[in-house]
Amino acid sequence: MHSLIIFASGRGSNAAAIIDHFKQNGKAAIALIVTNNPNAGVLAIAEQQHIPFLIVDKTSIKETLLIEQMADCKPSLIVLAGFMWKIPGTIVAAFRNKIVNIHPALLPAYGGKGMYGNHVHHAVLEAGEKETGITIHHVNEHYDEGDIIVQARCKVQANDTEDTLADRIHVLEHFYYPRTVEYLIG
Ligand code: GRF
Repeated sequence: MHSLIIFASGRGSNAAAIIDHFKQNGKAAIALIVTNNPNAGVLAIAEQQHIPFLIVDKTSIKETLLIEQMADCKPSLIVLAGFMWKIPGTIVAAFRNKIVNIHPALLPAYGGKGMYGNHVHHAVLEAGEKETGITIHHVNEHYDEGDIIVQARCKVQANDTEDTLADRIHVLEHFYYPRTVEYLIG
């Protein structure tokens, strides 16, 4: 049985989609959820599903203890699902090629520091793009620059707002992220 670690900071809808997917097909278990946000929606999910979780701060995320706790889970993959902080280089090095992220745009466009959530959709609308999408990519030491694994596209409609675009992007994310994780763990 594969083991996954999920990092999330916000609503946690991608984390929920991944948890549901693997609960149904039994191909992986979520060994640990890591968040920086004590109010993250993902913690309610963790409690409800009896998944162990850790709340990290700017110090503990850099400590060897966290790497040891993660290694104890023997993760096939570490899945970033809306995690707001940069992953420390020590974690990237300890789990090289085993960390993936999802970004709500077609990287390399609309990526980098400060490009998250509705900032991304705002920039896409401002630029008058006719299409946008999602990118699932490996994580390296630089924001949004790891190798791209999967991209999926959707249209930008003339009357779209940041929120309607975010909703359309979430539909894509919830479909592709669990399936891409499954493909990667094999
Ligand atoms: C997603 O849109 C994802 O692309 C980005 O953060 C958002 C997280 O949403 N990295 P949720 O917390 O999974 O609902």
